[in-house]
Amino acid sequence: MIKRIGVMTGGGDCPGLNAVLRAVVRTAILKYGWEVYGFKDGYRGLVMNEYVKLKSNDVSGILDKGGTILGSSNRDNPFNFRIERDGKVEYKDMSERVIDNINMHKIDCMVLIGGDGTLTSARDFARMGLNVVGVPKTIDNDLSGTDLTFGFMTAVETATDAIDKLHSTAESHHRVMILEVMGRYAGWIALQSGIAGGADAILIPEIPYDIKKVVEMIQRRRREGKHFSIIVAAEGAKAVDGDVVVSKVVHDSPDPIRLGGVGNQIAEQIEKLTGIETRVAVLGHLQRGGRPNPFDRILSTRFGVAAVEYINEGKFGIMVSLKGDEITAIPLEEAVGKLKTVPPEGELVKIAKSLGVSFGD
Ligand code: F6P
Repeated sequence: MIKRIGVMTGGGDCPGLNAVLRAVVRTAILKYGWEVYGFKDGYRGLVMNEYVKLKSNDVSGILDKGGTILGSSNRDNPFNFRIERDGKVEYKDMSERVIDNINMHKIDCMVLIGGDGTLTSARDFARMGLNVVGVPKTIDNDLSGTDLTFGFMTAVETATDAIDKLHSTAESHHRVMILEVMGRYAGWIALQSGIAGGADAILIPEIPYDIKKVVEMIQRRRREGKHFSIIVAAEGAKAVDGDVVVSKVVHDSPDPIRLGGVGNQIAEQIEKLTGIETRVAVLGHLQRGGRPNPFDRILSTRFGVAAVEYINEGKFGIMVSLKGDEITAIPLEEAVGKLKTVPPEGELVKIAKSLGVSFGD
């Protein structure tokens, strides 16, 4: 018999987190009469025992809000937790502390909402015997266990809107405009926004680019009377003879590499090879913030309700997932550790190429 569940949001924030929280809290309280504890700032709250008891009222008015009312962190790994004492920093496995805290509150199951890092720890807690249900979150859409993560479609919408706006300056000033988008090692945001926004080149990690091919596209367009070009570059895009561009290293993060800067590199090369004025816009965290679009609000709500339903059925150690049109669940053991990247020969790349979009290959 379930009486009390906990919920936590981990990793980078993402449109739709609050919608999931709302669905979990409302379904747990209104449909089943359970209590819900919300742990603050990702795994940090579970380690430090920082939580709030959530009532239905607490999740009122948050469906359309970006961010997460619980706070989040992409730095706190409970299995390698940063502790600062007397100015000295050490890393400790705090997983037993997390389990003690959960047991102390008599929490029957934790809903852990996050991307690959958060869900990998969720799997490890499941291995230690904890009842957990994962919910897949990331604007990058790079989790292999689900067709879509919530937040992705909103990020694509934001990036498409940016491409639409960049067209104005590109056309008026006869420039090459580059939009650098997020996505880490997957090119999904670049690919989908690039197609939706009518980009002339889409550069993604899965298809290393040759800058000469990109320049050929720009020059072909000029010969055809188009004196501007729009390029969407995923932050993880890399040249055939190069590597990803790293903007910073966050040492205490489970995934310390932060990508960024490829747009400027490409712009410099294009200006050098063509003499055409080339400018860069880095979309950055604008892709993570703001109102989730209706698709993401609905997907988040479906995931949140499903998480509670699976708990009610006693199904633990799973991640809720979208397969086709259906919400289902897959074991956490199968859900983590494998990135879902863009298939270079997949349908979306093919249709873009049919329309003359360059991938620099
Ligand atoms: O995973 C989401 C994401 O926004 C990536 O697209 C990006 O590479 C990374 O997080 C940025 O992280 P931070 O907010 O720590 O800079």
